[in-house]
Amino acid sequence: MHSERGSFGSQSGVILASAGSAVGLGNIWRFPTEVGRGGGAAFILIYLGFIFLVAMPVMISEFVIGRSSRSNAIGAFQKLSPGKPWVAVGVMGVLGGFLVLSFYSVVAGWTLHYTIASAFGQLTAGGQSSVDFGQAFNSFVSDPWQPIIYLAVFLLLTHLVVARGIQHGIERYSKFMMPMLLVIIVLLIFFSLSMPGAADSIRFLLQPDLSKVTPEVILGAMGQAFFSLSVGIGCLVTYSSYFSKETRLVSSAVNVCIIDTMVAVLSGFIIFPTVFSVGIAPDAGPGLVFITLPNVFVLAFGKMPIVGYAFALLFYVLLLLAALTSSISMHEICTAFISEHFGKSRRWTAIVVTAVCLVLGSFCSLSFGPWQDVTIFGRGFFDLFDFTVTKFLMPLGGLLMTLFVGWYLDRKLVEQQLTNDGSILVRTMKPLLFLIRWVAPAGILVIFINELIDIFI
Ligand code: PFF
Repeated sequence: MHSERGSFGSQSGVILASAGSAVGLGNIWRFPTEVGRGGGAAFILIYLGFIFLVAMPVMISEFVIGRSSRSNAIGAFQKLSPGKPWVAVGVMGVLGGFLVLSFYSVVAGWTLHYTIASAFGQLTAGGQSSVDFGQAFNSFVSDPWQPIIYLAVFLLLTHLVVARGIQHGIERYSKFMMPMLLVIIVLLIFFSLSMPGAADSIRFLLQPDLSKVTPEVILGAMGQAFFSLSVGIGCLVTYSSYFSKETRLVSSAVNVCIIDTMVAVLSGFIIFPTVFSVGIAPDAGPGLVFITLPNVFVLAFGKMPIVGYAFALLFYVLLLLAALTSSISMHEICTAFISEHFGKSRRWTAIVVTAVCLVLGSFCSLSFGPWQDVTIFGRGFFDLFDFTVTKFLMPLGGLLMTLFVGWYLDRKLVEQQLTNDGSILVRTMKPLLFLIRWVAPAGILVIFINELIDIFI
């Protein structure tokens, strides 16, 4: 049975594929938006605390569950605790996989549209600043058809990678795309820091103003940390089920967290200098990269056409590649479960998953246009899916997985996984187990309860 499952071919493949899952729209689109709203440096500090004290222990717990069971998100719990209700954690994960892929692909589809538009020079508008990008964005996303077509193309790209399997699909593409992504980031930082707003933005990103910290900012920071590291919905249980017995779980997790955090902070350094240069408030919200930035590209084009054009194109290519390495990991949660549970081929299963997400994604897309008034619990489809995954399934899944590994699983098995059967020394074993057993669950619980009180009372 095991030999039929795919596996990653190398330690670098493991790190790049997991980092590929982590680095995505969450880092380049969502992080700067949250930083802008949360007041800059203070948000970043709190975020860092959540990444290393809460989200990283969840990631390591997922790795332990995935590699020790060598099974998909649901199968893992069935194997490690047969007949027990823990399997519900896996079920939530697979459902979450469908929801997250559906709404994420909508924004990825917008990115695809903007990539093509920038290739045709539409976002630099020949250096003429009379174009109203806000209106262009709104009329594009509220169109009934156009965004759905881009959504479909993006899902098809995701599908093609996943259908090819672990080593030939996911690992190969991650190994190619991740280094490319880093090169583009360095180029963009170089552009950005030469903008006149660089000094203000560095102050904004590095000097904490604690008066901006509200309970909401703290909540936002935790949600962002979970989303950014892809933890809590079994994505990394699934990926780690393809790790080899030599893969070092702790150091892989630390590497992934560092890469992900670096990319998020660097994206801040790409976006804010440009935003400050044109004098736009940094808390512009989700339109930041689709409305604010094109204004900057036009400005740059007016000064140096080649630089403006390259800046715009490279930025959206970066966003698109990052979205793709993440969407394949969401797809894999669902594909791995269905194909293993029902004994169907990967190719056939991938088609089913893609088709379901195309339908659900279309609902999300329509909620920006013709279905604006269709709401469930007061939210349109896009908001509802986003909310269910990031504010509910991820924290709850993360909480249950740290409890599962910290308190339910046999301590020997956990230590065997972390030390690769005693062949490596994990000096931080005690503090790490303390984080998994106490700090992470307590942190999530306090914030989660606060959130629920906020919503329902
Ligand atoms: N971590 C991804 C990002 O930051 O864009 C989003 C994500 C990937 C969420 C995979 C959930 C997931 F299972």
